[in-house]
Amino acid sequence: MRTGEPCVLVILGASGDLAHRKLVPAMYEMHRAGMLHPATCILGVSRSKKTDVQWRDELVPWAQKQAKGFDAEAWKTFAQRIYYEPGDAATAEPYSRIGARIESLGACHRTKGNVLFFMSVAPELYEPIVEQIGAAGLVTEGRRWCSLNQSERSWQRIIVEKPFGNDDASAASLNRALGRVFDEEAIYRIDHYLGKEVVQSLLAFRFANAIFEPVWNHRYIDHVQITAAETVGVGQRISFYDQTGAIRDMIQSHLMQVLAFVAMEPPTDFSADHIRAEKVKVIDALQLPDPAHMDQFAALGQYGKSADEGAYHELTGVKPDTTTETFAALRMEFENWRWARVPFYLRTGKRMARKCTQIVVQFKPPAANLFRKSVPGPLSGNRMVIEIAPGERFSLRFGAKKPGEMCICDVEMTMDYAKAFKVDAVEAYGPLMIDAMRGDQSLFKPRVEVEGAWHAVMPFLDGRSASLRADIHANYAAGSWGPASADALLARDGRAWFNPGA
Ligand code: BG6
Repeated sequence: MRTGEPCVLVILGASGDLAHRKLVPAMYEMHRAGMLHPATCILGVSRSKKTDVQWRDELVPWAQKQAKGFDAEAWKTFAQRIYYEPGDAATAEPYSRIGARIESLGACHRTKGNVLFFMSVAPELYEPIVEQIGAAGLVTEGRRWCSLNQSERSWQRIIVEKPFGNDDASAASLNRALGRVFDEEAIYRIDHYLGKEVVQSLLAFRFANAIFEPVWNHRYIDHVQITAAETVGVGQRISFYDQTGAIRDMIQSHLMQVLAFVAMEPPTDFSADHIRAEKVKVIDALQLPDPAHMDQFAALGQYGKSADEGAYHELTGVKPDTTTETFAALRMEFENWRWARVPFYLRTGKRMARKCTQIVVQFKPPAANLFRKSVPGPLSGNRMVIEIAPGERFSLRFGAKKPGEMCICDVEMTMDYAKAFKVDAVEAYGPLMIDAMRGDQSLFKPRVEVEGAWHAVMPFLDGRSASLRADIHANYAAGSWGPASADALLARDGRAWFNPGA
């Protein structure tokens, strides 16, 4: 079992939504699964004044709601590892107390001087906080931790949540700020999509089997669609979302990670360095769109009103002239040997018809249609559908003969994760945080990859995207599959979106 090394996990932004909904429930799940080292403890830091006991009590309903199977006894033992220190982490003021608390918890729980910071605050606070951590002398990586009989190296690491910057320049600036305090080996840029079982199993699917890899290229694949559709609107995050939009929120981060796993070359081995090097290479091969023909590369949208919410542009807190996209579809191509002229369509949106995260790999049709009597047009070709959410399954669709007649119809062969392995999916953050506690960076993004992903999406965000943002208000109905321009994007290439249930 993968157990992290002991440490004090310092959650900066402990009163925030992410800490409540994801981080603490995920650590509780890891505790129950025996994956959290028994010595590891959690120190929450945020501005609100409260005691250890108050924070523990505040966390109970979140764990009950968010964690898989709440067990009161297990919570009791877990809660004894949870502590709280009030203070504004973006200023120098609380650091003598935070430092003393880390020291005393470390001594009491025997965490060997190891500290894992988790940056779970508003993104504009990342740089000031990193600076304060450095100035307070909390990063002493390499200092020897001594016990009676042994000496070991202690470590201090930091997990940085998305959004990692707001554009290419701010991401580079944040990288520099982190680099002034932490070594690159101690920086864990997290993306919870890389914690999802199906996303990780893409690598096993591709590289642990000899049957798929030979056809995984431009000779056999017609195109790939990656969709992350959500039925929810922007909810309580209006001001954050209006400065962010779907491309920054979902594509630059999550969908780029999925794209990289689908398209990367086989790494030399399964070490973090080799996996990350291949991802960097493939993201680097993405072509930039022609600014004179942006509509051939993207479609953007904003949802209209629904029964329980107004149209996006009318929501309180949204700029009245907002052009922030709640839907984006991008057409991307790689300039490399494997994927020459194969379009990858990336699509995401709020208030869409269904919650669905999936990859569709459309294979080319057979060279000749022997069945033209029953299928007069071209045969549809095989299709692989990899469902990441709500289900977790790989399905291969192919043409089969209908019993009793020589007629071709589509059938499906499926590997369902829950059925094959009889396990429930766990919260993606848990295993990733354990990886950081083990010092395994395989599923975290290196500096150059993040900067490369920003470079690839900047044309869809800066002035070059202006034409895509004209008439964006309510250009798709809530509960639909996005604006007409998204259908036109594929229709122009003679293709159509594969929508589940259609
Ligand atoms: C987050 C985005 O990173 O991912 C949210 O900020 C989005 O807007 C969420 O709802 C989607 O995650 P998942 O795991 O539900 O697909």
